[in-house]
Amino acid sequence: MGRSSEAVFLLFSLLFMAAINRSFSTADLVCSTTERKALLNLKKGFKDPSNWLSSWDSNNREDCCRWKGVGCDNRTGHVVQLKLRGSILIRSLSGEINHHLLELKHLRYLDLSGNEFEGNQIPDFLGSLQKLRYLNLSNSGFGGVIPPQFGNLSSLRYLDLRFCNALNVDNLHWVSRLSSLRYLDMNSVDLRLAHDWLQVINMLPHLSQLYLSSCQLSNIPPLSIVNFTSLVVLDLSWNKFGSTIPDWLYDLTSLEHLILDFNKFQGTLSPRIGNLTSLTEVSIYDNSLNGSIPSTVANLCNLRTLILSLNRFSGEIFRFLGNSSGCMSNSLESLRLEWNQLNETIPKSIGNLSRLELLDISGNPLQGIVSENHFARLIRLKILKASSVPLSLNVSTSWVPPFQLFNIEVGSWKLGPQFPAWLQTQKDFSRLNLSNTGISDTIPNWFWKLSSQIFFVDLSHNQIHGSFPGLSRIQADSAAIYLGHNRFTGLLPRFTSGVVELDLSNNLFSGSITHFLCDQFSEPNLLEYLDLSNNLLSGEIPDCWMNWQSLNVLNLGYNNLSGNLPKSLGSLTELQSLHLRNNGLIGELPSSLQNCTELLFINIGQNEFFGRIPVWIGQSLPKLMVLSLRSNKFNGSIPLEICHLSGLQIMDLSHNKLSGSIPQCFNNFSAMASDQKSSGYIGYVSSFLDFIETASLVMKGMELYYSKTLTLVTSMDLSDNSLSGVIPEDLTRLLGLRSLNLSLNHLVGRIPQKIGEMEFLESLDFSSNQLSGVIPQSLSNLTFLSHLNLSNNNLSGRIPSGTQIQGFTASSFLGNKGLCGSPLTKGCTGDDMSQIPTGGGGAEGDKDDNGVGVAADTFFIAMVLGFVMGFWGVFGPILFIKSLRFTFFRFLDRVKQNIHGGMIRC
Ligand SMILES: *[C@@H]1O[C@H](CO)[C@@H](O)[C@H](O)[C@H]1NC(C)=O
Ligand SMILES: *[C@@H]1O[C@H](CO)[C@@H](O)[C@H](O)[C@H]1NC(C)=O
Ligand SMILES: *[C@@H]1O[C@H](CO)[C@@H](O)[C@H](O)[C@H]1NC(C)=O
Ligand SMILES: *[C@@H]1O[C@H](CO)[C@@H](O)[C@H](O)[C@H]1NC(C)=O
Ligand SMILES: *[C@@H]1O[C@H](CO)[C@@H](O)[C@H](O)[C@H]1NC(C)=O
Ligand SMILES: *[C@@H]1O[C@H](CO)[C@@H](O)[C@H](O)[C@H]1NC(C)=O
Ligand SMILES: *[C@@H]1O[C@H](CO)[C@@H](O)[C@H](O)[C@H]1NC(C)=O
Ligand SMILES: *[C@@H]1O[C@H](CO)[C@@H](O)[C@H](O)[C@H]1NC(C)=O
Repeated sequence: MGRSSEAVFLLFSLLFMAAINRSFSTADLVCSTTERKALLNLKKGFKDPSNWLSSWDSNNREDCCRWKGVGCDNRTGHVVQLKLRGSILIRSLSGEINHHLLELKHLRYLDLSGNEFEGNQIPDFLGSLQKLRYLNLSNSGFGGVIPPQFGNLSSLRYLDLRFCNALNVDNLHWVSRLSSLRYLDMNSVDLRLAHDWLQVINMLPHLSQLYLSSCQLSNIPPLSIVNFTSLVVLDLSWNKFGSTIPDWLYDLTSLEHLILDFNKFQGTLSPRIGNLTSLTEVSIYDNSLNGSIPSTVANLCNLRTLILSLNRFSGEIFRFLGNSSGCMSNSLESLRLEWNQLNETIPKSIGNLSRLELLDISGNPLQGIVSENHFARLIRLKILKASSVPLSLNVSTSWVPPFQLFNIEVGSWKLGPQFPAWLQTQKDFSRLNLSNTGISDTIPNWFWKLSSQIFFVDLSHNQIHGSFPGLSRIQADSAAIYLGHNRFTGLLPRFTSGVVELDLSNNLFSGSITHFLCDQFSEPNLLEYLDLSNNLLSGEIPDCWMNWQSLNVLNLGYNNLSGNLPKSLGSLTELQSLHLRNNGLIGELPSSLQNCTELLFINIGQNEFFGRIPVWIGQSLPKLMVLSLRSNKFNGSIPLEICHLSGLQIMDLSHNKLSGSIPQCFNNFSAMASDQKSSGYIGYVSSFLDFIETASLVMKGMELYYSKTLTLVTSMDLSDNSLSGVIPEDLTRLLGLRSLNLSLNHLVGRIPQKIGEMEFLESLDFSSNQLSGVIPQSLSNLTFLSHLNLSNNNLSGRIPSGTQIQGFTASSFLGNKGLCGSPLTKGCTGDDMSQIPTGGGGAEGDKDDNGVGVAADTFFIAMVLGFVMGFWGVFGPILFIKSLRFTFFRFLDRVKQNIHGGMIRC
């Protein structure tokens, strides 16, 4: 007995010693010569500019298991791992992966991600690495077809090919053979041809994480039997399915993360989603789902993030919150429902979401009154985004909310008339949006002591009065302050140098702007956007612009500013947009403005500027798209250099004292000659909001505001000058022009024969010149024409026939002694009297008002159409009248939220 136990003990000891020995020996075990050689040969294929693989060296006697990125098996000493993960900043490999890799027969783990293989094919022979369990080629610059030999990697558990956007496949059949696969990431790989993608995935019963985002998939077929029920993560975002959400999705009972953003999914969200009780995250951002949000969502007891933003969910969407049996209210941390059509009231049960940190319900037509109860248990709420929602807040003046918010965004709520007192309790907020909330109060004293974290304040579109001395507590180095459209009085306020965007427009600020512009900051001034328009500012514009070199947009329009433009405006070398309209400014334009070479937009109309139009406008401001010098006292001839402005879309030189002839070179304005307009818009894209350039034009006899689709608008207005000579025939080559006004000049000769080729013309005014001859028949080809004025010339002959022309009233043709035919009452000689229309008022001049009326009507229709079309970027200008401006900006509010909300996932 003793002996045998002794023997057993001995045996165990020996085995134990051997084991210990073994693991010791592996630590300094020298990897096999073949593997060492293989590594050295493999290195020969790589380009390694940063010499990252310097330890891979035949002179390095060290065990190759200790070389950079090499891992060996503890027991056998074989190389099992190559972790050569690159990083753009520090190092990356390129070149080729040569077949010596195959000599590492025991390789289980291969990571070449983050390198730069310059569009090379992935070598087929990787498919022969039979033991591979982990393969990471993500973000490594490989291109071409993924080798189907990968299907031989039957031990593979992890396959990561994401961000190789030059990769594609003919089909995914090979994937079905990867029966051990747990993790598959093909984000950004082009799977357009992989019609079998879902069948293949359905052969992978162990698959736990599937990432197929941005794969250009368009088809999501139905499935009768769902095999891949181990799936925990499903990311199909950024494809273009456009169908309903397939039913099989609701059978994936292990699912924790469901991400379907940006797919144009239609139809409803099934109540069966309530069966997927493991879900912690559901994100279906920006699709087209409609109907109500199913109440079964309340059963998702683990749900922490629910994002259904930018869909068409409507109705009683908050029903799922009201379900007392629902347990989601104990888990939900982030609820984003912005920009849907949720239109009922907010139930008090929203106050039960005691873990909620982020609530975004912006842009829903929710109704009713929100009270203290609604917020009762929202103690963790940090981000409240609820702008553009017509809710009313009814709380007592002593209300102390249970939360401390970072974002307080309740624009368009009904909060006023008093300034909300509960704001005093919020100590840490950084964004405050109280725009359009019906406040007609002065700013309370405590407001000046609010959070110093603040970097966004929007109090615009209220009736706030009294003074606004400034916000000196702002510490942020890029802040935005919007106080426009209130009734603030007194001197302009002062802010810290970190303010990047400042809108004080449409108030009653008065006095000089000198202190505002000339008092220097200790730090460099970062202001990019300054709008002081529509106030009562007076005095001269001081010569202090060298302090404001970051300015992109400057609007001083509609004030009472006087004097000359200062030279230092030339230091605004970033300036894109200069508005000085409607002031009392005088003098010549300073030549230093030549330095503002980024200018796209100049509007200095309605001032008293004089002198010749400077030649440098054409020579030094090549990017100019809009030039309005309207209603000044510019004289002399139009400089030919202006024809260099090939990007010019709007040129308004009207109501000046210009003389000479219309330059022959106007057909160089290629932006006016082309009917292909970019679908973008002119604007300053801010980090907070988008400011979209507004151009006011006089078109079709009315003043209109164009915005958003300004890039679609083309107009030339030279009216009310002393221009003489003939209308250059080449002017008709500006085929994209929508409005042409040459009225009130001394032009002679004929109307160009080819006028009918300017097929986009909506408004044409040649009135009050001395044009003679007959009206070209081609005019009747202008199908979009809704405003025509040829009156008070010396035109003669028959007015061309065609429905387009006869739709205008006589007023379009009056004052031309020689003209005859419809719509004038004067018949042409040889006409049968019965053809002459006689209805409604005989005397010329009678229909004047009527004429404008008709034009305005068609115009209004065009406007509404244009509004809808323009928004979707199809075509058609958004034309709008002053009174609609506000609506428009509310609308834009939505657009810009979309743009900015789009990419941010909280
Ligand atoms: C080798 O053994 C050590 C200690 O047991 C362990 O931490 C390490 O992960 C092992 N390495 C490999 C490549 O298996
Ligand atoms: C692949 O490598 C990248 C880094 O380059 C890493 O972020 C990613 O998580 C890796 N994939 C897997 C499945 O480990
Ligand atoms: C690997 O796959 C290819 C085609 O996918 C096949 O022709 C080849 O025989 C396979 N090789 C091995 C070693 O299985
Ligand atoms: C389910 O998976 C197995 C292999 O895992 C496969 O044989 C079977 O065909 C799959 N079923 C369907 C419906 O695809
Ligand atoms: C799934 O949900 C539907 C509707 O909510 C329900 O009728 C069905 O019984 C549920 N199925 C399972 C397996 O829970
Ligand atoms: C909400 O919208 C739905 C769908 O458009 C409509 O049927 C319902 O009447 C609306 N409810 C209210 C209160 O406006
Ligand atoms: C305009 O630019 C010129 C040449 O770069 C420079 O000398 C001049 O000072 C600038 N003018 C202003 C007002 O900045
Ligand atoms: C009007 O347009 C048609 C088709 O574009 C063209 O054939 C015709 O010649 C034009 N008429 C005139 C008078 O230019």
